[in-house]
Amino acid sequence: MKTMLRTTAMMLALVMSGSLLAQDCELTIDSNDQMKYDKDELTVSSECSEVTLTLTHSGRMSVEQMGHNWVLAESGDVQAIARDGISAGLENEYLKPGDERVIAATEQIGGGESTTITFSLEGLEPGGSYEFFCSFPGHVAMMRGDFIIE
Ligand code: CO
Repeated sequence: MKTMLRTTAMMLALVMSGSLLAQDCELTIDSNDQMKYDKDELTVSSECSEVTLTLTHSGRMSVEQMGHNWVLAESGDVQAIARDGISAGLENEYLKPGDERVIAATEQIGGGESTTITFSLEGLEPGGSYEFFCSFPGHVAMMRGDFIIE
């Protein structure tokens, strides 16, 4: 009986630490018709083998009018990725096809929609300078934040 109790307690501890870890590796961010994200920074642990990010758009405007995505890149690449994405068009999520500077990116969404991606932190430096932004033409000025790997 004693052994069983101990085993149960250990299993419970494992399940709890597992769910805590999973929670730390799951990010959510909202966007809206005011061309804004609801967060200006996101933090993840470098121990996350995978990060799951969900972008929601709580506005009402269409993807053609007020499209938003979530693109992760090194800070120094953000402006160039955004500039090169303009001519790529909505059919390419306003990202140059095959742009190797893009670490991770969601599709473009409109009001009422949401999208989720999973990506690896492999090769990224804890404490490095990373940012997320929206590549819809002109939105990078308003929609940009820090992505912190602890
Ligand atoms: Co946008």
